[in-house]
Amino acid sequence: MDQPAGDTAASPSGTDLRFEAIGHDFESQHGSVQALAGIDFAVNAGQFVAILGPSGCGKSTLLLLAAGLLAPSEGAVVVGGERVTKPFTDCGFVFQDASLLEWRTALRNILLQAEARGMDRGQAEGRARELMELTGISGFEDAYPTQLSGGMRQRVALCRALLHDPPVLFMDEPFGALDALTREQMVLDTQRIWMEGAKTVLFVTHDIGEAIVLADRVVVLGPRPGRILEIYDIALPRPRDMDALAEPRSIALQHKIRELLRAHGVFTQPGQFGSCPGNEGTSGL
Ligand SMILES: Nc1ncnc2c1ncn2[C@@H]1O[C@H](COP(=O)(O)OP(=O)(O)O)[C@@H](O)[C@H]1O
Ligand SMILES: [Mg+2]
Repeated sequence: MDQPAGDTAASPSGTDLRFEAIGHDFESQHGSVQALAGIDFAVNAGQFVAILGPSGCGKSTLLLLAAGLLAPSEGAVVVGGERVTKPFTDCGFVFQDASLLEWRTALRNILLQAEARGMDRGQAEGRARELMELTGISGFEDAYPTQLSGGMRQRVALCRALLHDPPVLFMDEPFGALDALTREQMVLDTQRIWMEGAKTVLFVTHDIGEAIVLADRVVVLGPRPGRILEIYDIALPRPRDMDALAEPRSIALQHKIRELLRAHGVFTQPGQFGSCPGNEGTSGL
């Protein structure tokens, strides 16, 4: 599975992204926190790339840098051939928390994107309805967020992120707060939507299986300061489902990734707490 993936979406579109020797330190009154070091990799246009790593290793920071919401302390982010020096708006963002406005209906939450961008209201509403159909929430246009399940709220957030048809989508642990079965469905739906739209996706997760099922490439980061430990190309045929994780080559890759993380102190055994560099007192991913 370490050979280049030949299964990116059929008609490559989207925008390519490059992280060039990125390092990032946060300065605060308590001192400096080195979040990322020596991050160097490229995401081809239309590719689905997962960033996998333990809590606190700088995954969210990497997305904020890619979107120009943070300026790197070192190195550069290049999107579509241009160095990012200010917030890059031609993208969509989905976070772990759907971040919906509770006093707005599902449809009007999606249309927030149109309002923020001054899009034509009629066209935006047509597109919002199409996206609700695509993500399986049509019929809930007038429902308020409190009337929706966690999975449906995330679908609304996804529709909002896709409303302006951005070439790049950033997803930061978007299914982290969902129950296992909903999460599995969301993985399948995300893959389907990506295969139809061929966007460039940068997807942050701490779930090895989710990364393998969804991504063309998995970038594994080690504990803080986040550095790239390895990049794996995933050549499994699409569409994939969770059963793809039971294939021998996929089992071997899951094992390899666990070994890699273990070698960098991510999975501590009882009695070893505190031995994990940059991630003291925690275990697991
Ligand atoms: N605004 C900030 N100020 C200071 N430290 C921060 C800030 N944001 C993140 N950090 C620190 O940087 C490291 C990486 O954070 P983050 O990118 O959120 O990690 P992840 O998303 O992988 O859990 C963590 O140690 C975190 O505490
Ligand atoms: Mg995070």
